[in-house]
Amino acid sequence: MKKINIYKIYKWKLKKHKFSAITAYDFSFSKLFSTSGIPILLVGDSLGMVIQGKKSTLEVKLKHIKYHTKAVRKGSKNKFIISDLPFMTFMNKKQTLKNACSIIQSGANMIKIEGGIWIKKIIKYLAERSILTCCHIGLKPQNIHKEGEYKIQGKSKIDSKKIFEEALILEKSGTNMILLECVPNNLAKKITKKLKIPVIGIGSGPHTDGQILVMHDMLGITQKKHKFVKIFLKKNISLTQAIKNYIQEVKLGKFPSKKHTFF
Ligand code: KIV
Repeated sequence: MKKINIYKIYKWKLKKHKFSAITAYDFSFSKLFSTSGIPILLVGDSLGMVIQGKKSTLEVKLKHIKYHTKAVRKGSKNKFIISDLPFMTFMNKKQTLKNACSIIQSGANMIKIEGGIWIKKIIKYLAERSILTCCHIGLKPQNIHKEGEYKIQGKSKIDSKKIFEEALILEKSGTNMILLECVPNNLAKKITKKLKIPVIGIGSGPHTDGQILVMHDMLGITQKKHKFVKIFLKKNISLTQAIKNYIQEVKLGKFPSKKHTFF
């Protein structure tokens, strides 16, 4: 199978071909997701919670992301791998470039960064150096102490406008993708329609170009079930079939349904 690259993903957006993505942290699941047909794998800093058992993503270090990126790349030679820049490893342009390069050398195709307008100069700096980036906006788990809890973002007119403008400015700065977490359906629809770059959603309704889930959530391993999660691993269904059902439901626009969407 041909390698997935950013141009393929741009084409999917143009053709309105809905695509799926999933988090992965190790060789075996990476291989399973890859052979089941998931084109995009995210080595997310959610590993702080689902792998390390921490309460938040804040203690994840660069070395952890690099370690897991190497394992995931071993399992998926041809898939598009996005890896997170952990909490405060992107404080200035030079530090970000150095850290991004080390993650790319571990096997990632693209770096994901949580942040709004304040990272626009960093994004531009990376884009000028041909580093692909995905900006994570909406609910930003690395802001947990400021927010107090993980909750839907962009509900008020002011917040919705702020997130919309963030998306536009980050696209203009040169980012290649947006990950939109937990925003109302209408806002996600408006952003996806306006941007030329692909938008991947989680908890943001069915209108984004792609969908992503944390693997432990969709397999039903996580204790707390969020509204936006569907557990695809059911009784009498193999892991591979569960993953294929996820891919198919995203492709057909069946997942996320109304019941998984915030309005
Ligand atoms: O780190 C992560 O797993 C994420 C999810 C919200 C997709 O960013």
